[in-house]
Amino acid sequence: MNNMTTPVLEARDVTMRFGGLTAVRSVDFTVNSGEIVGLIGPNGAGKTTFFNCLTGLYIPTEGTVSYKGTVLPPKPHLVTMAGIARTFQNIRLFANMTVLENVLVGRHTRTKEGLWSALLRGPGFKKAEKASEERAMELLEFIGLADKRDHLARNLPYGEQRKLEIARALASEPGLLLLDEPTAGMNPQETRATEELVFAIRDKGIAVLLIEHDMRFVFNLCDRVAVLVQGEKLVEGTSEVVQADERVIAAYLGEPFEGAPGEAEAAEVAAAEAQNASTKGDAQ
Ligand SMILES: Nc1ncnc2c1ncn2[C@@H]1O[C@H](COP(=O)(O)OP(=O)(O)OP(=O)(O)O)[C@@H](O)[C@H]1O
Ligand SMILES: [Mg+2]
Repeated sequence: MNNMTTPVLEARDVTMRFGGLTAVRSVDFTVNSGEIVGLIGPNGAGKTTFFNCLTGLYIPTEGTVSYKGTVLPPKPHLVTMAGIARTFQNIRLFANMTVLENVLVGRHTRTKEGLWSALLRGPGFKKAEKASEERAMELLEFIGLADKRDHLARNLPYGEQRKLEIARALASEPGLLLLDEPTAGMNPQETRATEELVFAIRDKGIAVLLIEHDMRFVFNLCDRVAVLVQGEKLVEGTSEVVQADERVIAAYLGEPFEGAPGEAEAAEVAAAEAQNASTKGDAQ
């Protein structure tokens, strides 16, 4: 069997509604093993909401998410245990813990001892500690933060905090890594280094799905790119295909185009407003 085409992640018909707002609409989405896939789209397109549906943070209003052929229960720790790890658009580290401790916390789903034992350093933890620490140090070497193992997370420069989040995510030994804007706030050198890092992660056999606004980064890295607009998947294909699609440019510029996602709703709203205005006019 060709390993390149085995699906790691399969989202089927995923919809997420918040009251009257449909943030994600009937999205089908696949990530295959060995792939780096990009998810792009204007602000508010529903990218982070979609990640939250994939990782059990949100229970999708409709649809299913499968990892390696098994439907995932929408519970974050079960999703992590199954093999999906993520980073957050707004960095979520334990600010007052050291770099090494942050990575050790990321390992708790893979150790018998569990989170509290890791945090409280109970007797079970001490036994497992050595092996865990070795693995955590390996990851810090890989990410380039080994020399800062004892620094508090909050004292790291922003770019290094983003890297540490990746190390912590890798500590759960995932088969799929989701990165939400990994280069946000990074300088050009840090962005270049992150590009190399993502390739290196893929070369370890971990599939990567990333959200990013830096288009150069996305088109350099990704085997495939999907464009989300108003919660709908507008276009999906290679970097070349996506860059050549004029609907993508129109969507980013906020220009109307035929068949644009949300077009029907926008027309309804406009019609209602026009109706409203004319009724008001009659009353005057
Ligand atoms: N918990 C929530 N409750 C209500 N509305 C929400 C919630 N989370 C997201 N939304 C709405 O869903 C839409 C999509 O937001 P989302 O954060 O997924 O966009 P995004 O594509 O990640 O944008 P950005 O590029 O700015 O990060 C927005 O209109 C947002 O206000
Ligand atoms: Mg977002």
